[in-house]
Amino acid sequence: MTAIVSVKNLTKIYEGGFTALNDVSLDIEQGEILALLGPNGAGKTTLISAICGLVSPTSGTITVGGHDIISEFRAARSLIGLVPQEITIEPFETVINTTKLSRGLFGMKRDDAHIEETLRALSLWDKRKSRNVELSGGMKRRVLIAKALSHEPRVLFLDEPTAGVDVELRRDMWNLVRRLRDDGVTIILTTHYIEEAEEIADRVGVINKGEILLVEDKTSLMSKLGKKQLTIDLQQPVEAIPQSLSSYPLTLGPEGKSLIYGYDTSAERTGITKLLNDLAAAGMTMSDMSTSQSSLEDIFVDLVKEDAP
Ligand SMILES: Nc1ncnc2c1ncn2[C@@H]1O[C@H](COP(=O)(O)OP(=O)(O)O)[C@@H](O)[C@H]1O
Ligand SMILES: [Mg+2]
Repeated sequence: MTAIVSVKNLTKIYEGGFTALNDVSLDIEQGEILALLGPNGAGKTTLISAICGLVSPTSGTITVGGHDIISEFRAARSLIGLVPQEITIEPFETVINTTKLSRGLFGMKRDDAHIEETLRALSLWDKRKSRNVELSGGMKRRVLIAKALSHEPRVLFLDEPTAGVDVELRRDMWNLVRRLRDDGVTIILTTHYIEEAEEIADRVGVINKGEILLVEDKTSLMSKLGKKQLTIDLQQPVEAIPQSLSSYPLTLGPEGKSLIYGYDTSAERTGITKLLNDLAAAGMTMSDMSTSQSSLEDIFVDLVKEDAP
């Protein structure tokens, strides 16, 4: 796989001295959906803005499609579609003109079929003659997406795309994102909603306080960092964990009806077989057993917590 976006040792110190990004390096593969997950103020918008050439790096280099974002700005920028966090559209322009004009700004030749297809995919076709100012917030966001897609970008950035949007738009957006990905478009979205990263991303990058804490394949991230819990339901409730089992990391479930055993899926031995033997030796009979895996949310909270002072 080749990296379509490559960020190397990027640092951004805003005027006034605030370090928003600290030595960030990140390769984004062609055709993947990457979620940048991080709390408010983590530096997500700054990172995206730097890649799109809207914020100038203090140090470091960025290439898009092999083009340096500063020395070859036009070539790099033409590959990029950006749906910004804030709504920024010309209020008195119509939906269709907004989209067409944006394509023109990128020097692309007129293609009414592409514009129609894009507007239809976003359920904007019936509203194409409305002026932006007449639209609801959700519709305005759809226009922003249409605008970003007007020049057929190879890399699409969505900055907090679902913050405050309704369920319908969210669903349409994910369908569109998956379709674009199937066409080879690379998608980078930022979010502070863990469920969102879990739902849509192929890879997840966790960013906090201007630093990338990790970038991992979503499934491997979840199994690698994920801890599992084994819940053993007991036939007879117990008042306390027997002394003979005190070496195990066990906790007592509600009303003493179960034992909960936490283990690491990446460990060489889970210790489950031995635990069950020792349980039987202690005269305890189990009625049922189940496992559950921690979600991305637990992993995220753990990571951000560890990083906290
Ligand atoms: N133009 C600016 N001047 C100074 N500080 C800024 C500017 N833009 C953002 N910041 C600060 O940089 C940090 C990261 O901001 P941002 O990239 O918007 O984070 P996120 O998108 O993850 O919420 C925040 O603490 C923010 O206050
Ligand atoms: Mg932001």
